[in-house]
Amino acid sequence: MTNLIRAALVVVAALSVAGPAAAADKFLADRHIERGVKCESCHTGAKPDANVDMKTCLQCHGGSYQALAKKTESDDINPHETHLGEAQCVTCHQGHKPPRLSCDSCHEFEDIRVP
Ligand code: HEC
Ligand code: HEC
Ligand code: HEC
Ligand code: HEC
Repeated sequence: MTNLIRAALVVVAALSVAGPAAAADKFLADRHIERGVKCESCHTGAKPDANVDMKTCLQCHGGSYQALAKKTESDDINPHETHLGEAQCVTCHQGHKPPRLSCDSCHEFEDIRVP
């Protein structure tokens, strides 16, 4: 094997380790921070905790559930207009861990992905 090919293989190996793993490390809060959102924009209390009320999220995302639902109305099943009503955002969207689709405690919507 020439040195050139060996070097190329090392690069490919490094990419396949760093690529998907690095993307999976970015949770919702990290992606917000990258766009200039501050901790305090989501954590309005004296210090950050797990209670982030939907009112805080909605201040930047449409102002109301109805406005938010308009953005996703072309989905087969609109995740923002359901028989659960106005659920807290964090039942699906998580700040610092993988998201989950709360619906799947009863249903199995395999093709719905929560960002
Ligand atoms: C200070 C404003 C602000 C607050 C507060 C905020 N966001 Fe965002 N959010 C943004 C911006 C800016 C973007 C990037 C532009 C866009 O997609 O609208 C974004 C993008 C998103 C996205 C889509 C893009 C992605 O990376 O997943 C989701 C989902 C989201 N926010 C959910 C939430 C939730 C849930 C909360 C509350 C826990 C929240 N946001 C609080 C400003 C905010
Ligand atoms: C039942 C689970 C669930 C709840 C509760 C929920 N979302 Fe979502 N959200 C989703 C899913 C699923 C998507 C992806 C939809 C898509 O890709 O079309 C999404 C997408 C988004 C997006 C990106 C929309 C875009 O334009 O692409 C934003 C912003 C967002 N949600 C904010 C919120 C906020 C703010 C709340 C609370 C007020 C909330 N969500 C509550 C499941 C949920
Ligand atoms: C987009 C909104 C958003 C941003 C920005 C954000 N967080 Fe959070 N944070 C959350 C949500 C939602 C939770 C609730 C638990 C979860 O979903 O991970 C949380 C939970 C926490 C908790 C409590 C953890 C627990 O499980 O008890 C701490 C501490 C925290 N965040 C610190 C921070 C710090 C520090 C920053 C800035 C570097 C930050 N957060 C930025 C949304 C955000
Ligand atoms: C606590 C259990 C439970 C949860 C959580 C739940 N559902 Fe349901 N869902 C049901 C039951 C029960 C029915 C009615 C029986 C049936 O049709 O299977 C139903 C029916 C439906 C239907 C078909 C009938 C209709 O009302 O249009 C859709 C679509 C649906 N759910 C979507 C969702 C979505 C999206 C979520 C998450 C935001 C969700 N469900 C969360 C239990 C649940």
